[in-house]
Amino acid sequence: VVAGHETTATTLSWAMYELHRHPEALASLRAALAPARALPPRPRPSRRCPCLEAACDETLRLHPPVPMVPRRLTRAFALGGYTLPAGTTLGVVSYMAHLREEVFAEAEVFKPERFVGRRYSPFEYYPWGGGARRCLGAAFAAYELRVALGTLLSTSAWVLDEPGPVRHAFRVGTYGPEGGIRMRPVV
Ligand code: HEM
Repeated sequence: VVAGHETTATTLSWAMYELHRHPEALASLRAALAPARALPPRPRPSRRCPCLEAACDETLRLHPPVPMVPRRLTRAFALGGYTLPAGTTLGVVSYMAHLREEVFAEAEVFKPERFVGRRYSPFEYYPWGGGARRCLGAAFAAYELRVALGTLLSTSAWVLDEPGPVRHAFRVGTYGPEGGIRMRPVV
């Protein structure tokens, strides 16, 4: 439940939050989704839409629900002038890597367009972890996110109840928005 539900639900909340704090990003995503809305019989936001993928990727950059993955060294390893002995546990922190200015210009700013037509290396961007233990559900979760986010945005307008800054807080094994994100559909 934690790996498969909490992570994706949290990311969906952050995506809605960020998009509704960034009207230009929201408007261009809505415009990109408009043709999908026209397709019968129901909205089909799961069709490939680079803007939708970029919004999800950018959300995961700023708000990775699993911000650190641990690895235990099987042999000594030299890192940053230190020699770490076998058995040491290292934390590989995507949350910090994702804020490196030399990789992501204006790293603190939500800018989905940085992912349009651009791929980052697995050493620059890794919300799904990496290597042999990379998230088993990554493809499924990315698809589910696109379907859910695209459907929410295609079928209704939404208002953020509390548009102010929201802190990250540790939840059930993941990090998510402290106190949750409260939104209302505009009817
Ligand atoms: C936005 C959604 C998700 C994110 C950001 C995410 C992120 C991660 C991360 C960072 C890891 C650790 C990878 C590593 O150690 O290198 C992981 C592991 C894992 N995830 Fe996800 N995950 C998500 C959704 C899912 C879903 C939907 C499933 C299952 C349907 C899933 C199943 C797993 C499993 C089984 C592992 C353990 C893999 C292993 O140790 O071999 N995850 N996930």
